[in-house]
Amino acid sequence: MNHLQGKTIILGVTGGIAAYKAAYLTSRLTQKGAVVHVIMTESAKQFITELTFQSLSKQRVYSDTFQERDPASISHIDLAGSADLVLVAPATANMIAKMAHGIADDMLSTTLLATTAPVMVAPAMNVHMYRHPAVVSNMNTLYDRGVQFIEPGDGLLACGYVGKGRLEEPDTIVSVVEAYFAGQAAPESLLLAGKKVLVTAGGTVERIDPVRYISNDSSGKMGFALARAARAMGADVTLIAARTDIAPPQDADIEVVRVESAQQMYEAVAGRFGSADVLVQAAAVADYRPKQAAEAKIKKSVDNMVLELVKTTDILETLGKAKTKQFVIGFAAETGNTEGYARDKLVRKNLDLIVANDVTLAGAGFGTDTNIVSVYDVEGLVFDLPLASKDEVARKVLAVAAGRLNGVLQ
Ligand code: PMT
Repeated sequence: MNHLQGKTIILGVTGGIAAYKAAYLTSRLTQKGAVVHVIMTESAKQFITELTFQSLSKQRVYSDTFQERDPASISHIDLAGSADLVLVAPATANMIAKMAHGIADDMLSTTLLATTAPVMVAPAMNVHMYRHPAVVSNMNTLYDRGVQFIEPGDGLLACGYVGKGRLEEPDTIVSVVEAYFAGQAAPESLLLAGKKVLVTAGGTVERIDPVRYISNDSSGKMGFALARAARAMGADVTLIAARTDIAPPQDADIEVVRVESAQQMYEAVAGRFGSADVLVQAAAVADYRPKQAAEAKIKKSVDNMVLELVKTTDILETLGKAKTKQFVIGFAAETGNTEGYARDKLVRKNLDLIVANDVTLAGAGFGTDTNIVSVYDVEGLVFDLPLASKDEVARKVLAVAAGRLNGVLQ
């Protein structure tokens, strides 16, 4: 079935060298039956002409808000109202900033404010611009408003740099648009449908003797929020929980497996990893355990006692290195040099994403209902989330994972 047939798509073309690729995009969308109305910014016209888009779309091309050819209508309002989808490709940092701040000073930005249609944005810019905190923050604002991003690809950029920033290939953009109209990409409740998600939570307990142990302050809240969010996105969820302060989610659709030690958690996770699509390791796992757990309560005797500790298995590192299709997400609980340590763990453990939390910050880390996180992939920062509920953190992290699993990158 052709999901693009008869759909009205407004294609916003902004001023970057990738504007030339929008010509092929227009052609592909039109060939597939979409009615494509192109709106160009003045800067885009420096790179490609209106006539190109008019010829390919067989439609009038818009760029000037005040050039009203039909007295009976107001173009930007009519266009905005007629759209099934507004796609901005390529989207410059400038247009993304205007969208984030509600600036309406040209035909495209005005139409974007006037539309109630879903909006997709395919950024294209220099790699450093793409990673600039201002651009990241603007993209996060738009993401929170429901804008769907088609993440740029890696490669040699027109500016000479190599990295992320190249407009995603037009054929891929067309596939994303088709997937949207096919109903595959949209509601949050479907983002992880059919995926098996393993989540770990809580702090492991490493026995010294039957009544004493080494553990940590993890309450389980972050891991439980992740399990709930994954379930809400339609995933088949298994929650592997060590010691927690609160009860796990009472949702019959979330399988809960209780474990105690790092070793037990390793066995529970490893046994399910082969069939999993996503592993989110939010548990605080002991790095060391007592070499010997005494079978009976240790009696008070000597003044000084030495407890010999040995390393536990690093669950995430072992499975990260063994992964095949799985999308693996780690957490990094840090008390300083958060980005440096987190990114080192990301690489060392072969992760797809790492969620770094500085557990010294008020409202972040252990025991709280909120967290403050920065999420990294191998390229660098994916997004920062200032103080937000753990539910919100969970949703955002999993939405990125779902997008990447489905080839629709945020
Ligand atoms: O449970 P809460 O009270 O809500 O608190 C949430 C949290 C602070 C526990 C959570 O946000 C968090 O940061 N979890 C990871 C804690 C941790 O063990 O961080 P780490 O930086 O020491 O370890 C890095 C990663 O390796 C983690 O994903 C950890 O689960 C994993 N790891 C560590 C050691 C080990 N032997 N095996 C592992 O898999």
